[in-house]
Amino acid sequence: MTLVIAIDGPSGSGKSSVSKAVARRLGLAYLDTGAMYRAATWWCRHQGVDLADAAAVEAAVARMPLEMGVDPDSPSVHVGGEDVGAAIRTTEISTAVSAVATNLAVRDELRRLQRAAIDGEKLDGFSGGRGIVAEGRDITTVVAPDADVRVLLTASEEARLARRARELHGSDGAGAVEATRDQIVRRDADDSTVSQFHVAADGVATVDSSELDLEQTVNAVLAVVAELAPAAAPTDEVGTGRTDA
Ligand code: DC
Repeated sequence: MTLVIAIDGPSGSGKSSVSKAVARRLGLAYLDTGAMYRAATWWCRHQGVDLADAAAVEAAVARMPLEMGVDPDSPSVHVGGEDVGAAIRTTEISTAVSAVATNLAVRDELRRLQRAAIDGEKLDGFSGGRGIVAEGRDITTVVAPDADVRVLLTASEEARLARRARELHGSDGAGAVEATRDQIVRRDADDSTVSQFHVAADGVATVDSSELDLEQTVNAVLAVVAELAPAAAPTDEVGTGRTDA
């Protein structure tokens, strides 16, 4: 059976770490769709395109030579053969990416590539046809609304700010949290204008990770998988923290 797992959530919800771990546990491919929006932003900058010029951004993204590596042990992003894995994580790109991610023509193009990657895993991609975990903001609702398992990963704003502050600044003290606020609160407000990722759509299970560590959150997602796609899930895990939409 080919399994498609869609995971959405806001910044700092732990989506990437959880999605990678779930893919690893189940032997699936892993697609980071946020990295595709980041790569598009990097590419526009690299090409000298003004991010405020929507038509120029659309044209640049349409010819972006993007290659996504979907091994959850070493996910990679290449543009024109150049490894941009580190370059797309800089504060400069994090600050600018919403301008590209709110361009509706860019979203159409990247969704087309995302669906192609998901369909490729159903055939004979990295996973050998086992399937894929795709994470982002609109995977459960627009990119793959017919996925076998759909999860919205949430966490309180406080928990998300503290988590990202520890990642970026190595501390969750007041100064570090304030320095992180733009990355979480402003960006999610901008991104919310084009995607709904704070409330689960019908049929999407919610996992709230505010009080859970990584392992517990992974187990909660695996428990959803065990319920909705029992043939695919490992049988030795019992999860917590999940509520139905
Ligand atoms: O998850 P992230 O921070 O790497 O996402 C980067 C940006 O891309 C963020 O501003 C939200 C946007 N995004 C989106 O609009 N739709 C997706 N499916 C994934 C990410």
